[in-house]
Parts: sequence; C-alpha cells; structure tokens
Amino acid sequence: MSKTGSRSAPQGKAVEALDRQEASLELARLAAEILHHDKLYYQQDTPEIDDAAYDALRRRNAAIEKRFPDLVREDSPSQRVGAAPSQTFSEVKHRVPMLSLGNAFTEEDLREFFAGVRRFLREFSNDPEAALDSVAEPKIDGLSVSLRYESGRFVRGATRGDGRSGEDVTANLRSVENIPERLTGEVPDVLEVRGEIYMAKSDFLELNRRQEAAGQKIFANPRNAAAGSLRQLDASVTASRPLRFFAYSWGELSAPLGETHWDCLKRLRSMGLTVNDLTRLCHSPDEALAFYRELAARRAQLDYDIDGVVYKIDRLDLQARLGFVSRAPRWAIAQKFPAEQAQTQLKEITIQVGRTGALTPVANLEPVTVGGVVVTRATLHNEDEIARKDIREGDWVVVQRAGDVIPQVVSVLAERREGRSKPFVYPDTCPECGSHAVREEGEAVRRCTGGLICPAQAIERLKHFVSRGAFDIEGLGAKQVEAFWRDHLIRGPADIFDLEKHAENLRKREGFGEKSVANLLSAIEARRDIPLDRFLYALGVRQVGEATARLLAKNYGDFKSWRAQMLMAAQREESAAGAEAYDTLLNIDGIGPSVAEDLIAFVSEPHNQEILDALEQRLTIQPFAQTAQGDSAIAGKTLVFTGSLEKMTRGEAKARAEALGAKVAGSVSKKTDFVVVGADAGSKARKAQELGVTLLSEEEWLALMA
Ligand code: IVH
Repeated sequence: MSKTGSRSAPQGKAVEALDRQEASLELARLAAEILHHDKLYYQQDTPEIDDAAYDALRRRNAAIEKRFPDLVREDSPSQRVGAAPSQTFSEVKHRVPMLSLGNAFTEEDLREFFAGVRRFLREFSNDPEAALDSVAEPKIDGLSVSLRYESGRFVRGATRGDGRSGEDVTANLRSVENIPERLTGEVPDVLEVRGEIYMAKSDFLELNRRQEAAGQKIFANPRNAAAGSLRQLDASVTASRPLRFFAYSWGELSAPLGETHWDCLKRLRSMGLTVNDLTRLCHSPDEALAFYRELAARRAQLDYDIDGVVYKIDRLDLQARLGFVSRAPRWAIAQKFPAEQAQTQLKEITIQVGRTGALTPVANLEPVTVGGVVVTRATLHNEDEIARKDIREGDWVVVQRAGDVIPQVVSVLAERREGRSKPFVYPDTCPECGSHAVREEGEAVRRCTGGLICPAQAIERLKHFVSRGAFDIEGLGAKQVEAFWRDHLIRGPADIFDLEKHAENLRKREGFGEKSVANLLSAIEARRDIPLDRFLYALGVRQVGEATARLLAKNYGDFKSWRAQMLMAAQREESAAGAEAYDTLLNIDGIGPSVAEDLIAFVSEPHNQEILDALEQRLTIQPFAQTAQGDSAIAGKTLVFTGSLEKMTRGEAKARAEALGAKVAGSVSKKTDFVVVGADAGSKARKAQELGVTLLSEEEWLALMA
C-alpha cells in the first residue's frame, strides 16, 4: 500500500485543502505531466490537450508552489529556463533564391518551351539546326532543401520556405542517410547543393504501419510523411524516419562546377551526393518527349513518387542568358504527368463567393479516391461550364486531379443519369449576402455587388491578406480569420495589427491559451515591417498577382509614390499630370489597360482609402529593394528598345537590362533615359530625338551593360 493509501488522491483536490505531503506528491505529478505535454506540443506537433487545460495545469502548479515555497522542485515547470523551447525553427535567408518551375501540360507545351528558348537566343533563332541539349530529370514529389557545405563539410541545411528564406533544419538533415557529412574529392570552398527530400514508397508504408501500431498519426502520402518528418523540432524524431535525398541543382558556389548541367551533376555525384540515375541528356525535343513517355510507363514501378519530368537547358552560359521570368527560370520547365481520374456521384452544387465577389460553383461529391487522395469537392469553374456540360445534381461524373491543382469535374456520365433530374439554375443573387449578382458583358463570371457588406468577400480578402505570398502570418490561417471576423475581432486588415488590444479576450477563446496568443501576437508584430511588393500583393486588387505586384513595386519604389501616382492616374481625363501618370502606368511592360483600370478603381474607392490610411499608420512598408547590382550604369534607368538587334533578341535584351536593375518601357517619353536603336528603327527613334533622349547603338548599349 502506498503512503497515501488512506487519503483521497491529491489530484483534483483544491489547493487550499492540500497538506504538505499531498502538495509534494502533486508537484511531482504536475512536473511530469507538464513535461509530457510540452514534448507533445513543441516537438511532435500533436498536443493532446487544448491550451486552456494546459494553462490550468501550470496555474495549479504555481498556486501550490506559492503555498509551499520550500517544496518547489528543481525540475518544476516554473524553474525551467526558457520554459518553452523555441516553437519554430530559425530563419535562413537564401543567398541565391530557391525558385519554382513553370509547367507544361501537353507535348505542345513542351515543344513550345524549346521553341521559345530558340526564339530568345539569337544564334538559335537564326539557325534552326543548331544543337540545343537539355537534361531531363524525374520530378521528385518531395520537398526541396538547400544544403550548405563549407570546405566540404555540411554546415547548414534549410527548407525552401517562400524561396527567399526558409527554416534551419540542419540537425534534422544530418540524420538523412544519404546526405554526406563530408564531401569527397575536389570540392569548392562554398557549395550549396539543392535537391529533394523524399520518402520511399516502401518506407512510407512501413512507417504508417508503425505509426498505426503505436496509435499515432497516419500520413496521407509519402510527400506529407517526408514533410512532417523533416519539420520536427526534435531531431531524434526525424532520425527515426527513413528520409532520403536527391541532388539536382545548386545555389551559392565559390567556383563553378562545370560548363553544363550534365557535367555539374556528374561532379556532384563524384563528391558523394546522390543524383537520380534515371536522369538523361537529350539532344532534341523528340528525345526529351521519348524520355517522358518511358518514365510515365515506369512510374508505378519506382519506389518513390514522381509527378513529372523536369527539363533543363544543358549549357550553363545559355541558362545565364535566359535568366528568369518572375520566380521561374526561362531555362527549365516541368512537364507533369496526366491527371488521375475517377468516377463518383455529384450530391449537390453549391456556390462559393470569392474575395473579388466572383461566384464559383462547387461540386460536392460522394467521397472518392483519386490518385491516392480522397476528394469530396471539385470546382465547376463557372455557369457556362455547367450549362455546356449539362452538369446536374445527382449525376455521375468523372473527376480529375492534376498535381496541386484543385480537383475538377471533367464530364458527366450521361448514361447513368436517372429520370427526373433538372438542369441546374444558376443564382442571380449572392448566396452569402443576398445582393444582386451580375455578369458583365463579355465576362465569364458573375459577381456579387455587395462589396464589403458581403461577409464572404470581406473574409476572403482577409484570408488573402494573411496568405503565404502576402503577410504570411503564422497562426492566423483561414480558420482563425473566419472566426475572428465573425466575432468582430478582425473586420478589416488593419484590425490585425490592433489584435493585441484583445489579448485578454483571445486567451479565453477555446483552443487558445497563453502560449498560442503570445505566439500569434509576436508573429503579427514581426510582420509590421513588410516589403512593398508583398504589401501590394496582399491588398488583393483584382488581377494583381505576385508578379504584377513586384512590377509595381519596382517601378514606383515606395508606397507613397505608388499611391499618389495611382490617384493621379485616376485623374487622367481631368489633368495633364493625370494623363501622364496614367501613361507611365501603362508604359510598364506587363501592365495593360485592364489591370490599370482595376488598380485605379481600387485606390479611388473611399473604403479602400481608409484601409490604406489605417495600414500605413500601423506598418512600415519597406521601399522596393533592388536585387540587381545597384552600381551598374543602367540601374534605375528607363530604357526603350526599338528596331531589331543583331547580337540578341528583344526578349534577351529586355531580360538582361532588367537583371541589371533597369526598367524597360514600351514607348518613349520625357522619362526615358536611353533608347537603344537597332536596325530599321522607326518612330520611337525619331521621338527620342525630338525629346532629346540619349540614343544608343547596339554596340554602345552592350558596352554600357558590360
Ligand atoms: S529544379 C530553378 N529539378 O519541383 C530550378 N526541381 O515545381 C528549381 N523538384 O521546388 C527546381 N524534382 O521542389 C528541379 N529534378 C528536379 C526536381 C525539382 C522535384 C521540385 C522542387 C521544386 C519544384 C518546382
């Protein structure tokens, strides 16, 4: 019998009623229990109790210690230094950004990729026979990481994150079996190897068997398992998971690895890194396509998931000239394997309202597995699509999933339709707020006219505001935004930055507690400082995606001038300055009249003006940071190209100028700094002369760039 056998258990007994011995037992129990929950929460991402219950444990511990100060244990939760280990990984900035890839979905897309590369490069567009080699690699379905080696030693590993900075997962990567701690042979002083972390299919099945036996989380697919395993705060958990690595690229280098991609891969292999064996050097688009077909046929037999093929132009000098468009290289592309399909019954068609008020029909399906993932909803695009395919509630339909794309309904199985179904009647009012939903002439979508009185629009705008490419606030996801909006804690974007005023209130919410509120508030605090391009993207102006937001940031430099110029452009009919501002906007290569309209409409709207004022008060919006060499002679200058150039195509000329920090405009104005004049130049050269703008020949321009 235990010493306390005759007493009531101290657990649950009021603190005031505990005697000394009970208090001591209870403190021991609490120390163990709190430690257990800390581990689950911080290290395994799988808390068993909510924050309120956790806080109650800590409060009880504190109350007992207050009554019996001499019983405070050495291992008490109140004594642990930095009681909470950092809840997140530290940030690693990628010196060379980690980019994504453009996609080809069909053979034509891939041929067009090669044709586009040829058009871009003068010597290849002039000579259709000139050999253009490429390297074809399996596209591994895992997560990309960057491994930094200094003097051949593995010193740091990071996830891709948003491409500019990721998380420091060095300790976890050290346990990946085929990531060498030391490289062999001739190794540059600094070498950042990039590649994919993945889990083999067989290892994944085995892991899930183990997890199930231990009553732990089952992973949906190998990719999720790999991601979940890598992002473990306790590196020993990662070590127990069978992860692997394929190298396929690199970031910072102190010395080149070779002249072609193919040679570089060989070099990486010689240093002890694993490069995928199926990788192939192709001499023509036909060979590249043949590789794709072969791989598609072998796909099911491979012990790792691949979702397509990546093609890279082999010569590194050509890669350098091709450069990047937005965040993807012009010298590489991914061709995805075709979508996987399945049949199921469509239970109901519902209408979703997006942030710009667009009504989108959604198919609610009888759950079905498509390519290993259970699908319950699919998009139906728009009302014409429903009418064209005559999709009705109750129909049997074919659904497909392609990569990360939202599942879609491809067609109706007309033969399985039962008697009395009726064509779907598309609503002309908003299902969320009842406002009229109108379809403008020539538009495919119907839009709710309720603006921000429409809860769906208000909430979707907020969700966009905090999304990944925008403010990216950890702990403030779609679910929280929705709940906070409904409870009037956040009604507009600026309210996010006043959330600290409601801290007390937040702590009382279900599923929230001291810790998660503190984490959320500090995540918000960290985002008070925001680069202009992210800020502009976050606003959610129609048609302004990340690339357009960057263009605007680059051309206007800082928030105040952007805003003033947009407002000025709104006056284009009334004043000469307005007309000029409007012209400047349209003159940005990549911005057309329709985007310009949306921008002007956005800044002119009184409600948006209030939002911009409120945000400006609460945030520090960082001016656009030139990534290119600021000391180049053309950095910050506005250039216009006219006539045809001999040494390079217009596309390459523009890309190189931009890479050096210049802005390339479509027409000549007083703001133009240089006009580069090729052969057969016409009116632009004349206009430049009239305005006294400096004219450059192709040679002069090349010299300036050099
Ligand atoms: S190259 C600038 N090669 O696909 C080039 N990526 O869709 C960057 N991926 O983020 C990537 N296998 O996570 C490259 N053989 C391969 C790949 C590969 C898988 C992933 C990678 C990347 C994503 C882009």
